[in-house]
Amino acid sequence: MQNVQTVSGLRSHVQSWRVQGQSIVLVPTMGNLHRGHLTLIERARRLGDRVIVSIFVNPTQFGPNEDFAAYPRTLERDAELLRDAGCDLLFHPSLDEVYPLGTQNLVQVQVPELGEILCGAFRPGHFSGVATVVTKLLNMVQPDVALFGRKDYQQLLVIRRVVMDLYLPVRIEAADTVREESGLAMSSRNQYLNVSELAQAAELQRTLRWMRERVHLGDVLGEVEQGALTRLENAGFRIDYVVIRAAEDLSQPTTERRQGLIGLVAARLGHARLIDNLLI
Ligand code: PAJ
Repeated sequence: MQNVQTVSGLRSHVQSWRVQGQSIVLVPTMGNLHRGHLTLIERARRLGDRVIVSIFVNPTQFGPNEDFAAYPRTLERDAELLRDAGCDLLFHPSLDEVYPLGTQNLVQVQVPELGEILCGAFRPGHFSGVATVVTKLLNMVQPDVALFGRKDYQQLLVIRRVVMDLYLPVRIEAADTVREESGLAMSSRNQYLNVSELAQAAELQRTLRWMRERVHLGDVLGEVEQGALTRLENAGFRIDYVVIRAAEDLSQPTTERRQGLIGLVAARLGHARLIDNLLI
């Protein structure tokens, strides 16, 4: 596995693969890799000839009171896992490489509405940070395919929107959420939970399944949302939102709609902010 920190180094490897007619798949990450990430890499290997994984803890997608400083950084272990997973190139640029002119007065990619609702409302600026860094990474690597997890469902839609609207020449693929046995979605932020909180956190997915069942039984969507809120509050969560939305654009569905819906939740437990979703 190649280990590269600069865009020029990255591009010379990409160029040598391109002249051999090989296709390139990018998996962007912030590192601290877990089985969810590794499943993406396995999938990436089937999508093209060469797999590039980026590790960059992107400061512009963290709010001033969020966990940028505390975010777990485990580069050496990540590199070992990536080598074993068959990654061809690890790209881990420095802050200066990604933001050569600094993060003040930065050229930014904004995604109005879609990037401002749900997680965007609770984390102002988060999705413009994500959209900006992903656009940069796509331009640096110029892959044929880029792969993202459905666990971060709103992020996936934001990125699809950017790629369509800016005509970025890349195909975006999505992978299903990898879960613990308990149903808890794997996340680097699960490390912020203690043992009892870890068990409690599985209630997020149980509640989403309960919501799906209630919707299929014909319950009023607003009442299902309210029931889920009460259920999660009683389980000790501090809720940002628990909602049912249209899966294609996260807009508010009509009350009669029963298909193409998705349940989404963001909630705080202990020191962690957790998100999850389930197609209905
Ligand atoms: P990160 O949280 O490291 O996630 C990297 C990729 O792994 C994302 O596409 C995410 O959806 C996916 N992923 C995380 N947990 C998963 C799980 N349990 N199952 C399946 N896929 C999972 O998301 C980011 O980094 C950043 O915002 C990034 C896109 C890299 C931009 O900085």
